Amino acid sequence: METILIVDDEKNYPLIISALLEEEGFETLTANSGEEALKILKSHEVDLVLTDMKMPSMDGITLLEKIKENNFNIPVLMMTAYGTVEKAVEAMKKGAYNYILKPFDNESLIAYVNKALEMQRIINQNLRLLSDAKSKYSFDNIIGRSKVMQNLFNIIRKVAPTNASVLIEGESGTGKELVAKALHFNSSRANQSFIPVNCSALSENLLESELFGHEKGSFTGAVTQKKGKFEIADNGTIFFDELAEISLNTQVKLLRIIQEKTLERVGGVKPINIDVRIIAATNKKLTDEMEAGRFREDLFYRLNVVRLTLPPLRERKDDLSLLINYFIKKYKEINNKGENVIGLDGETERIFYHYGWPGNIRELENTIEHALIFSAGSLITKADLPNSFKEISGKALRIDDIPSNQGLAQTLETVEKKMIIRALNLSGNVQSRAAKMLKIGKSGLNQKIKKYGLDKSSKS
Ligand SMILES: Nc1ncnc2c1ncn2[C@@H]1O[C@H](COP(=O)(O)OP(=O)(O)OP(=O)(O)O)[C@@H](O)[C@H]1O
Ligand SMILES: [Mg+2]
Repeated sequence: METILIVDDEKNYPLIISALLEEEGFETLTANSGEEALKILKSHEVDLVLTDMKMPSMDGITLLEKIKENNFNIPVLMMTAYGTVEKAVEAMKKGAYNYILKPFDNESLIAYVNKALEMQRIINQNLRLLSDAKSKYSFDNIIGRSKVMQNLFNIIRKVAPTNASVLIEGESGTGKELVAKALHFNSSRANQSFIPVNCSALSENLLESELFGHEKGSFTGAVTQKKGKFEIADNGTIFFDELAEISLNTQVKLLRIIQEKTLERVGGVKPINIDVRIIAATNKKLTDEMEAGRFREDLFYRLNVVRLTLPPLRERKDDLSLLINYFIKKYKEINNKGENVIGLDGETERIFYHYGWPGNIRELENTIEHALIFSAGSLITKADLPNSFKEISGKALRIDDIPSNQGLAQTLETVEKKMIIRALNLSGNVQSRAAKMLKIGKSGLNQKIKKYGLDKSSKS
C-alpha cells in the first residue's frame, strides 16, 4: 500500500484529505508544518508528499528544497491558492511534480495523486533496472587475471570515467560488448542511455535514418518524424558494433557529427546539438581496412583515442579455469541444472586446454551451459560436451599404447596428424596460423590436411 504525507498548517485540512485518500485505499500521514514533515520523512517510507504552498515558518518551496537536498526520491505535489500560482510554477522549476489549485474537488485530487504515483513507479522501476545494469556491468564481472587482461583492466579503469572515444578490437566472442557496457556504466554517463547500433545489420540508407533520424516526408516511407540513435543517446553513450561495416559515405557523415557535435535529421535543415560519447567495436583490424581503402583514415584517428585489443581465449589460457568456474556458477543458477557439478574431469580439462576456442568466450560459455544440462555427476565429462568436441581426444599419446608391430612410418603419421589437429585447434582453425606454429609452409600444411581428411572445418 502506498503512503502519502499531507502537509498543511490549517489543522483540519490534512484530516479531511487524509480521510478521502484512505477511502481510496492509501495510507496517510499528516503534518502541520514543513519541519514536522521533514521529521516524518526521516523515519517513514513515504511515496508522495502533498504539501500546501503557504505555511508560516517553513513554506512549501523550502520543504521541497529540503526534500531534494536530502535526496529523498519522492514526488512532491503542491497545493496552491490563486494568489500563489507564480510560486507554484517556481516550485515546478525546482523539481515539484505538479501543482493543484485550491479549492479542488475530490476527483481531481485523486486523479493527480494517482498520476504522480504512477510516474514514481516508472521512475523507481527504471532506477532498479539501472542499478541491476550497473552491478551486471561492473568491472568485477569481466573475468580474467592473466597478464594481458590485467593490463587491459588498468586501461579500462582509467578511460571509463572520461569522455574519450574508445575503439575495441577483438575476434568474435572476446567480450567487446561486455567491455563497452562496463565503460559506459562506470562513467558519469551511467544514468543516461547506452545505445547500441549494429552497423552490419542495416543498408546504407536505413543506417543513416537510424543514426540521424528523419523528418516527416523526407523519403517514401517516412510517414512520421523520427529521432535518430544519436539524439536518443544524447548525454549518454552510442556503441557502434561492427564499425568496419559502415560504408564510406556514412563514414564521412559520422566524422562530421563527431567533429561538429551537431547533426541534421535526414531531410531536416535545423542543426541539433548533441553530446554523445562514442565507443566502437570491430572484429576486423581497422588498420588493414584503411590500407585496403575501405575505412577512412580521418575517422579512424578520431575514434582511436584509446584502443583496447581483447585477446582471443587461446592466448590467455591462464584464465580458463577462472572462466570455467565462473560460467559453471552462472548457469547452475540460471538453468537450475548440474547442481552437483564442481568442475571438469581430467580428460575434459585437457580437451579444453588444447582446444583453440575459435568462438572465444562465447563458445566456452555455451559449452559449459550445454555440459551442465547433460551432466549427471560432480565432474563434467567428455560425454556431456556438444558433438563437435567428440572428435577431439584429451588422452595423452603414450608410446606404450602404440602396437609394437605398427611400424615407424605409420606411427610418425599418427603423431603428425595429432600435432596438426592440435595446431588447428589452437589457431582457431586458421591454416596460416597453424602452419606458423608447426614451422612448415602453408601449402605443405594444406596437403597434409587433405591427406588426413581434416579439411572440413579449417580456414585458409
Ligand atoms: N572476460 C569475460 N568475463 C566473463 N564473461 C565474458 C568475458 N568476455 C566475454 N564474456 C561473455 O561472453 C559472451 C560474448 O561476449 P560479447 O558479446 O561481449 O563478445 P563480442 O566480442 O561483442 O562478440 P561479437 O564480436 O561476436 O559480437 C557474453 O555472454 C559475455 O558476457
Ligand atoms: Mg558483440
